[in-house]
Amino acid sequence: MVSLNLALSLLLATGTQAFVPAANKPFNSALNAVSKKDTYSVTLLPGDGIGPEITAATKVALEALTTKCGFTIELKEALIGGAAIDEKNDPFPQESLDQCLGSDSVLLACIGGYKWDNNPRELRPESGLLKMRKEMGLFANLRPAKVLPQLIDASTLKREVVEGVDVMVVRELTGDVYFGTPKGIDVIDGQRVGYNNMIYSESEIDRIARVAGDVASKRGGKLCSVDKANVLDVSQLWRDVVTQVITDDFKDVELSHMYVDNAAMQLIRWPKQFDTIVCGNIFGDILSDEASMLVGSLGMLPSASIGESGPGVFEPCHGSAPDIAGEDKANPLAMILSAAMMLKYDLDRPAEAQMLEDAVEAVLDQGIRTPDIKQEGDGCKLVGCKEMGQAVADVVASMALN
Ligand code: IPM
Ligand code: MG
Repeated sequence: MVSLNLALSLLLATGTQAFVPAANKPFNSALNAVSKKDTYSVTLLPGDGIGPEITAATKVALEALTTKCGFTIELKEALIGGAAIDEKNDPFPQESLDQCLGSDSVLLACIGGYKWDNNPRELRPESGLLKMRKEMGLFANLRPAKVLPQLIDASTLKREVVEGVDVMVVRELTGDVYFGTPKGIDVIDGQRVGYNNMIYSESEIDRIARVAGDVASKRGGKLCSVDKANVLDVSQLWRDVVTQVITDDFKDVELSHMYVDNAAMQLIRWPKQFDTIVCGNIFGDILSDEASMLVGSLGMLPSASIGESGPGVFEPCHGSAPDIAGEDKANPLAMILSAAMMLKYDLDRPAEAQMLEDAVEAVLDQGIRTPDIKQEGDGCKLVGCKEMGQAVADVVASMALN
């Protein structure tokens, strides 16, 4: 078993600072990365919308990689989201959960679609995703937004603003207003009133602060904690606990605090001021979508969700894009990059992860683009989802092994 400390150091090797051995108090979480072995079991959750297409493209790329490198990933599909509602009347059936928990790791595409939008909440695809996160204890969600030089002009922001941006959003994933009770819609004094509860306990803040402290110490050493402490009590506690954890146990990390409205503005005004951002569930949901646009397309962003033990879930940050589902227009690169994160974090295969990441960059260097990252007059070749997956696989197949 590889500790989260080690796994994070591998992930963060792309950061701006060399790995600093942790003199810090070990944090309360360990990534259950299995040790390197010949055959892995991975649960594949294709989900809805463009999910099956990007899953197929990712499989092609992964197969090329395992063939090249001489190991096996046994991929077994399971149901989640709308697909699970249609077949099992449950957005994340028990058998899917059992299968995920019994695997070395989980690779998820995306969920959701118009078809289920008017279902009662417990029969919405999103409820399956939330149930998966909660039941698997995936409290830490890492969303890196690193601008690739090949895609600078795909961003709607100016080149000088986005060039060199490398931000990591550490989002708490199993608490906050997403899961707080009481919640509901009641009739009070003759009118409907809707409410949710934004709630965090000290221990929930403590453990995400430790993940963030560790992440920051292995990147540029700067951590910005985002909250709304000028208005919300829950944010005041967040600020107090984060301050305590980082000042006591992560002395090499420079901590700052920012209100969420200001952070949203600063992220597009001058994103290079950020290295690592830590925030609660809902602020992280919003800021990570915003951060993705620095990179040019949500179609490029992978993510890792990890807990104290057990397999992690690796998934693109984007949604299921029902408007282009089945049209072979989706960008599979975020899912392919998520597979690379899985190799690095959960499967103890950092070199192979690097190969996959290098292959993605090589394909971009070749000027191959899906519609979301294609610019008019850029001289690049427009391809579909399938061809993009094949292009990554072809590069992998032609790579030299070290
Ligand atoms: C995300 C998504 C989910 C979230 C939805 C689909 C429930 O937006 O992963 O960011 O809000 O967490
Ligand atoms: Mg979101």
